[in-house]
Order: sequence, then C-alpha cells, then structure tokens
Amino acid sequence: MCGIIGYIGGRNAAVEVYEGLKRLEYRGYDSAGAAFCDGDKLTLIKKRGKVEKLLPHLKSVRATIGIGHTRWATHGVPSDVNAHPHSVGNICVVHNGIIENYAELKAGLEAEGSVFLSRTDSEVAAHLLNKYYDGDLLYAMKMTVGKLRGSYALMAVCKGENKIVAACNKSPLIIGYGFGENYCASDEPALAGKCETIVVMEDGDLAEITAESVAVYNAVYNCELQSVIREPEPNLAVSADMSTGDCPHYMLKEIREVPESVLSTKRAFSGIADKFKTAVSGAKRIIMTGCGTAYHAALIGKRYFESFASIPVEVETAGEFRYKDPLINEDTVLFAISQSGETADTVEAARLARSRGAKIVAVTNSHRSQLNRIADIVVPVAAGPEICVAATKSYTGQITALYLCALAFAGKDDGGIIEYAAGLCRDVVKNTNVDKLAHMCARSRGTYFMGRDLDYAVALEGSLKLKEISYVPGDGYPAGELKHGTLALIDRRTVSVFVITDKELAGKSGNAVEQVISRGGKVAVVTNVKGLELPQGVSEVITIPECDKFLSPLLSVIVLQYLAYRTAVLLKKDPDKPRNLAKSVTVE
Ligand code: M6R
Repeated sequence: MCGIIGYIGGRNAAVEVYEGLKRLEYRGYDSAGAAFCDGDKLTLIKKRGKVEKLLPHLKSVRATIGIGHTRWATHGVPSDVNAHPHSVGNICVVHNGIIENYAELKAGLEAEGSVFLSRTDSEVAAHLLNKYYDGDLLYAMKMTVGKLRGSYALMAVCKGENKIVAACNKSPLIIGYGFGENYCASDEPALAGKCETIVVMEDGDLAEITAESVAVYNAVYNCELQSVIREPEPNLAVSADMSTGDCPHYMLKEIREVPESVLSTKRAFSGIADKFKTAVSGAKRIIMTGCGTAYHAALIGKRYFESFASIPVEVETAGEFRYKDPLINEDTVLFAISQSGETADTVEAARLARSRGAKIVAVTNSHRSQLNRIADIVVPVAAGPEICVAATKSYTGQITALYLCALAFAGKDDGGIIEYAAGLCRDVVKNTNVDKLAHMCARSRGTYFMGRDLDYAVALEGSLKLKEISYVPGDGYPAGELKHGTLALIDRRTVSVFVITDKELAGKSGNAVEQVISRGGKVAVVTNVKGLELPQGVSEVITIPECDKFLSPLLSVIVLQYLAYRTAVLLKKDPDKPRNLAKSVTVE
C-alpha cells in the first residue's frame, strides 16, 4: 500500500528515486510523485497515473536529495493534487499508512489558519511538520509523530537542510547504507543492487539520514528522543530477481517459477523442522488466518492438519478474526499466513492472538516482515520475490509449507513426495494450454469455479485470480451448493469451471456438471481423475497429471492461474497491475 523511497548522496537523486519507485510500484500505482532538494532549490513533481508519468518531468532534475512516493489511494481519489509528496512551506513529505485521527488534526490546523489542498489524510503531516519546524527537521518530525494515531512510514525533506528525516510506526521502512550515500525505502527489493547493508526501522523509530551518517532514535515511551542501535543486516534482495526475464509479464514468469517455489520451500522447511515441532508441541487448538489468497491456502492447510494429525483447525479471514473477540489461550497456535508478512489485518490478528497467549507461526515469503517479528517461529515460504499483484508461486509455496507443517506436527515426513509433486508441477507449467477456455471466459457474462473439498478451496483461488486481473465477474462455490441458489445464474453466457481431482468425489461433481449443462451453461473441467465420465456437452477438458489428492491443488491451481493470465491478456488488461489493487495491503 504505497511505496516510498529516499536518496541522499553524490548521484543524481532523480535517477535513484525513479528507479526505486519503479521497483516499489507493485505497492500502488494510481499516482506518483517526488521532491528534490539541491541547496536552496526545492522541486516538487506529482502526477496521476503510473510512475513512468514522472519520467519526462525528471529529465531536467539534478539533485543530491530526493524522496518519492507511489500511491494506492485510501483517502481522496487518484489525482495530481492528492499525489504525494505533500508540501507546506519549505517542507515536503511522503507517507505510507493511514493517519486515523487526521480529521481531528485537520480541523485543529484549519482553525489555526492552515489551508489544505488535498483530500488525503497524509497532508496533515506536512502541515504539522511546517508548524513545528524551527530550523530542526528531526525535532519537527518528533513533534509531528507525537500527534499522529494510526500507521505511518514518513520521509521528509526541507529546503536548506542537507538530510532526510524518516519515522515509522506499523508501516515498514528500511534504511540502506552506501558509501557516501544512503537510502531509505519501504522494502528491500527497492534497494536491490544499491545497498548491501540495511537496517530495519522499528515501530516508533525516527531517523536522520545524511550522505555520510545515519542516526536512529526512538521516542515511543519517552518524550525525549533516545538514540538506539539497530543491527545492520545484509540486503537479501537481488536485482536480477526484479526483471521479467524472457516473459512479457511478471505473472507469467512467476507461474513458471511455481515448481521452484515448491522445491525451495521444502528445502527451507528442512532447516526449521525441529524448531517448528518444538514450538507447536502441545498445541490443543489451531487457528489459521490470512487474507485473499493466503486465506485460501489456509483452507487447504486446515485439511492437512485435520487429516494428518487429527487436530481440529479453524480458519478465519484475518479481517474477521481480529474483530470477533476470539477465544484464545496458551494452548492455541495461530498460523498467520501472508506472502508479504505486512498485511495489516493479518499482522493485527497475530498481535491480538499473541496478546492473549497464543503461539504465533508466521508463514511468510518475506525475510523481514512485521509478521516475522511478532511470531514465535517463522515457517519460510521460499518463493522468491513476487512482484505481480496476483499471488501465484507464493500460494503454491504456502500450500507446500502447510503440508510439511502438518506432517511434522503428526511426527511424519514427506518421504520425497514434494520433489515428485514439483516435477509434476513442471509438467503442468510446460504442457498446459488454456487458450480455448480463456476465450470462453473473456466472452462470458459470469464465471463460476466449483469443486468439492480441496478442489473447492482451489476453485475459490481460481475465481479470485480471474476476477482480480481480468475483471470478468464470477465466484467460487462448493459444487454441492450449486443447486441451492447459484444455479439461477447459469445460462449460455456463463462459464463454469469444475476442478475434479478427488476420485471419490468425482461422481458427485459430475452431477453438478450435468445440472449446469442442462441449463445451457458452458462447462470446462480441470481433472486428473483417470476414466472420469463426463456428460456430453462439456466444452473443454484440461487434464493434469495424476497425483496424491492432497497435493493435487499444486497442479490444478497452475491451470487456473494460466487461465486468469491468458484471459487478462486477451482482454488487454495489465495482469501485473490490476486496477484498484496493490500487492501489499498495509492498511485496514
Ligand atoms: O501479502 P499477503 O499474502 O498477506 O496478501 C494477502 C492478499 O492481499 C493477497 O493474497 C491478495 O488476495 C492477492 N492479490 C490475490 O492474488
């Protein structure tokens, strides 16, 4: 949700900020902007639209200090004026997060004569910085954050001040160390190839960054700033990972990386298996939570734990869980599943569960996320950077991780089946053709994804993927529920995609297929059930390799990911940057 970047040093800040913003664009892309300081010159550029809209305006900029922002609108429509940086007096500021008490602050500032230009919550930070600025930008930032409630990662520059001042609380911010130059950014990939060493700022931290020095302070419990040491760590992001390689889109590249995500996650799990077993031993109750795709992975994880370890598991979306006054005690283990480890609802759900005594298992694809810091143990999803907003290889990594966790909890190991499944994933990646089905979906009025048991969980994910990037409406349903309402929606302009990978349930799903065909609906089936008898009239059958039923989701979902991708491309939508969305949802 919004990405911010800052640079100070001997290179041209315009170039550094632009490159950083391009890498952060997956966090939001409805508008972008930057501010540059060079001596007494302050330049502010902001535009509605993607980061590249800034490029023509940056060509003439030469500066040693710059901050930039790529936005996902929360307060105020995407527009030039609502884009960041916000500027008041000689100060410019960029913000990621939500200032919850902005209306109250704004009213107070307006009463004192401030004139607001935008509809954003963030502009209050600019007015407060200006109000408290008396020649010391760090002091102004300390006073400003003292007034804010909510989440923020802030970076400010001021005409005549040779520094960037940053602050964060519940929104990520890292500082990247260079030689005679320093950076500050929302995440590590923004600094891939730029800085080998970083420092992760913690909640309540403030930082004063010059080209030669970095000083970090914390003011949470003290009115006075306390200097604090934050351990430098290596930047693990690699710049080569940030390209699309020989693929036209990140999404295609990332689907092709599914087999590797499965294998790498298995390798990573072997490094923590014993620690995991110790951490969860004695658990009497398991809850799994996450949002979107991560929630869908939790539905599959539930099934694994219940089948392999006979322990009941509850699954709840994080946004619901945290407001339900959940029953939790020391015997509870909460699995918080999140690709980014930064999703606000999931992080807060984990915080809540922890405060009530639960053990927290973070299942994340991020080495240094907020969720990882809260967790008792991190189960790594080793999918590598996932840039496309639509989750693909992280989902298969999550499923793999949960499969291995459930086996470990039951005192078993996978006996090499993960490697086997990864090989089958490779076949599916290589041999799947969804072109006919993608054309059907692109022309359809509605799409319904159905299955039973694990296939239902995959159907939900397939439906989310298609909606998210192609904007073709639809939904995922349990196949048995069809006749209880959804059947009313079926006509010849709809496409129903059935996932059928469980031999024992295949006949039952076949009945639902029949019911759709009888109402004139078009039907496609994704299956690996040998000898599956399907009624006449099925438009398309996509066959995947036979596989253990618990690992079939790894294969069937690849077909549905390809389907979403191809449909989006046919409809000329950008699969990597779907409208209205962002990769990392760090606000409520
Ligand atoms: O980073 P997270 O896994 O916590 O993100 C959760 C969801 O926002 C995410 O999975 C979302 O649903 C995807 N864009 C779906 O493709």
